[in-house]
Amino acid sequence: MSDASSLKVFLNPRSIAVIGASRTPGKIGYEVVKNLINYGYKGKIYPVNPNATEVLGLKAYPSVLSIPDEVDVAVVTVPAQLVPQVIEESGRKGVKVAVVITAGFSEVGNVELEEKIVKIARSYGMRILGPNIFGYVYTPANINATFGPTEVVKGGIGFITQSGALGIALMGWTILHEIGLSAIFSMGNMADIDVVEVSELLAEDPYTKVVAIYLEGIKPGKGREFIERMSKVTQKKPVVVIKAGVSERGAKAVASHTGSLAGADALYEAAFKQAGIIRARTLLELFNIARGFALQPVPKGENTVIITNGGGAGVLATDTAELNGVKLLEPSQELMDKFRQTMPWFGSPKNPVDLTGQAVVDNYIKALKVAVEAPEIDNIVIIYCRTAVLDPMELAKAIVEFYKENNVTKTTVVSMIGGADVEQAIKHLNRNSIPAYPTPEEAVFVLSRMLMYKRYLERIKKAS
Ligand code: COA
Repeated sequence: MSDASSLKVFLNPRSIAVIGASRTPGKIGYEVVKNLINYGYKGKIYPVNPNATEVLGLKAYPSVLSIPDEVDVAVVTVPAQLVPQVIEESGRKGVKVAVVITAGFSEVGNVELEEKIVKIARSYGMRILGPNIFGYVYTPANINATFGPTEVVKGGIGFITQSGALGIALMGWTILHEIGLSAIFSMGNMADIDVVEVSELLAEDPYTKVVAIYLEGIKPGKGREFIERMSKVTQKKPVVVIKAGVSERGAKAVASHTGSLAGADALYEAAFKQAGIIRARTLLELFNIARGFALQPVPKGENTVIITNGGGAGVLATDTAELNGVKLLEPSQELMDKFRQTMPWFGSPKNPVDLTGQAVVDNYIKALKVAVEAPEIDNIVIIYCRTAVLDPMELAKAIVEFYKENNVTKTTVVSMIGGADVEQAIKHLNRNSIPAYPTPEEAVFVLSRMLMYKRYLERIKKAS
């Protein structure tokens, strides 16, 4: 199957049935209904349970067939042996996609049962997400059809995960760190819908700025197709992937987890490169990079300037830039003269522009003004080390205001280093579309990956 348009219904279903909706708090079928209600889904929610008349205050139906309305999406939370019958009834009802949360299929060797449900679904033209998943989220439509945490933060990252438990854990983690998501898709066994198709769907979604994927592997024989189709996705949206199962033992663990082919890391590396996919090595990198793309425009040029109040932090940023292909601009005498006006006499107007530990908001804003107005500067890295003379929140607010007032479109990343008050300032920047990180290395590394994507788009443009 390869038609992402059949998946569009995920993004604006008129109604969602939960088949196996439970009356007991803590059970999966209960938590899914609760999340749908509490996250504010505006369509119709239909609990289905032959043993109940009501679930969470909503009228329950004995079967999906008895619902007196069309059903676009069915979330399935009945035990595995009941799933074929539920899929059959959903197909007859005209359900477009079934989100099968239930476990106990190919991941435990029950291949036949999995093939059976796919066969039934296909006979009705219905699609299946899963089985063996925690559900899906689409924040623009207030859909949280999972049994994970409720209050997913809205934003531009479309997250696709081949791991369930890790995915749920990361849901909580993104909430803690205020990482804004457009969607979360748990993929599980990928009996029907796969990572590529969901990537294609999100590439067309205006709310998704970047696709972030936790990938265990591609099904055997699907390598070429993966490259071809993902190449088209990356022309529309940046895609960042963390590939698990890189080590030999890790690859074996993947085989027993989701049955995907994880080996030959070099092959994956080559495939990602060819498809224009940006590779993250850790989960932190995955979300750091994704956040950069979600909040900032793709760089328009290579020339980068670092503005800092700390020499050491500036050096670390410079090292990361050099190691990762971020070109630091050699400022002209004229530009240095302008930067010189923004700092105490003992500062440095070279790149990194060192405003010194004595810098206050005014120094930063003046230096930013120079950087924004200089046509030879494309990208800006702002670094702040906590000092007694400059309150981090005051600086964060001033930066946000300056960027808004001046409509700055030069790609910018920030690093603020310090304690608890710095963390609050970082949150303020992130909430206002300026990606901020606790270390200079992270900020510059994110910019390096954004530059990689810029170069990839340019190569493609040239080739076409
Ligand atoms: N149609 C609809 N609902 C039905 C039904 C049917 N034909 N038959 C029974 N039900 C109801 C039950 O009465 C129950 O509701 P109740 O609690 O109000 O009585 C509800 O459906 C759930 O059925 P139950 O038998 O209690 O199942 P369960 O909640 O113990 O387990 C799963 C169901 C799907 C959660 C479980 O089989 C499973 O797969 N768990 C693992 C899920 C998982 O880990 N997924 C991957 C995550 S990453």
